[in-house]
Amino acid sequence: MKLLIVLLCGLVCIVSADYPIEDYKAVAKSRDFTGKVILVTGSSSGIGEGIVKLFSILGANVVVTGRKAQDVQRVAKEVQELSPLKLKPLEVVGDLTKTSDLNNLIDSTIKTFGRLDVLVNNAGIYPQTNITQTDILSVWDQIFALNLRAVVELVHRSVPHLEKINGTIIDISSIGAIAPFKVNLAYASAKAGMDMLSRILALELGPKNIRVNTINPGSIHVRDPLTPLELLVAKYTPLGRNGQPLDIARAVAFLASTDSDFITGANLVVDGGVVYVAGFWNTM
Ligand SMILES: NC(=O)c1ccc[n+]([C@@H]2O[C@H](COP(=O)([O-])OP(=O)(O)OC[C@H]3O[C@@H](n4cnc5c(N)ncnc54)[C@H](OP(=O)(O)O)[C@@H]3O)[C@@H](O)[C@H]2O)c1
Repeated sequence: MKLLIVLLCGLVCIVSADYPIEDYKAVAKSRDFTGKVILVTGSSSGIGEGIVKLFSILGANVVVTGRKAQDVQRVAKEVQELSPLKLKPLEVVGDLTKTSDLNNLIDSTIKTFGRLDVLVNNAGIYPQTNITQTDILSVWDQIFALNLRAVVELVHRSVPHLEKINGTIIDISSIGAIAPFKVNLAYASAKAGMDMLSRILALELGPKNIRVNTINPGSIHVRDPLTPLELLVAKYTPLGRNGQPLDIARAVAFLASTDSDFITGANLVVDGGVVYVAGFWNTM
């Protein structure tokens, strides 16, 4: 009997997995992005600006882009000052709904830095819409052109570069993709499309070692002063405040890091818990 127990114990010990402790120790340095190249669309203001600033602090080479040259230059200057090695970001002015500008964004990133590690699809517009407004179809087309079609085109152009180095894609969606708000007909439909796009891309690109994940922000305060709606949202939010760009940037850093090596096709909701009470919006 004793012999049997010893033998069984031996078997258990033999089958228990043994992983290198070095992988555990590497977690302490997982936010060091030195040598990595991060392209964040819509990084000339708001959430995108917060993302490029954080990645510059974390050592990465970043691309600052948007349509307004003045905003791109301002953010690029601040980003360079934050970089530990004072790395100069690439500045690209362009409209992502134009294929030539979009191609130029990818081409100049590769020409300047020689690689692309992280593509963050952040640029987006959010005009309110409803089905009875007279210009619904033209506004719908504008929203979809940037918030969804340009994302597909950017991913299409980026995959050949991302697959060379196990790159990753992070899509900035919205809690509007999850909770229906009646004033968000076109925007929320586009963001819901983005969520599904990310999941399907995760399936297709997983075998190429490209991870694809989505972040769904709640109300993120990007422009002063706080609006009455933002104040109300903060009141209803379980964590008692609006988000700030850094809240989203930290989530992007997690999803871009080796800490999320086994995460793809996920939705990371970053909203202080408001999605669970978001129905109050529709009573206003
Ligand atoms: N703020 C929130 O509460 C919130 C909540 C949920 C989700 N989000 C999402 O987060 C993302 C960023 O939002 P945000 O609040 O930071 O917006 P934002 O401050 O208005 O920034 C939008 C960025 O996109 C750029 N952009 C707009 N149209 C463009 C175009 N056609 N081509 C290229 N770039 C363009 C803007 O620069 P130019 O205007 O100079 O081009 C700017 O850099 C969006 O996808 C939004 O849907 C925001």
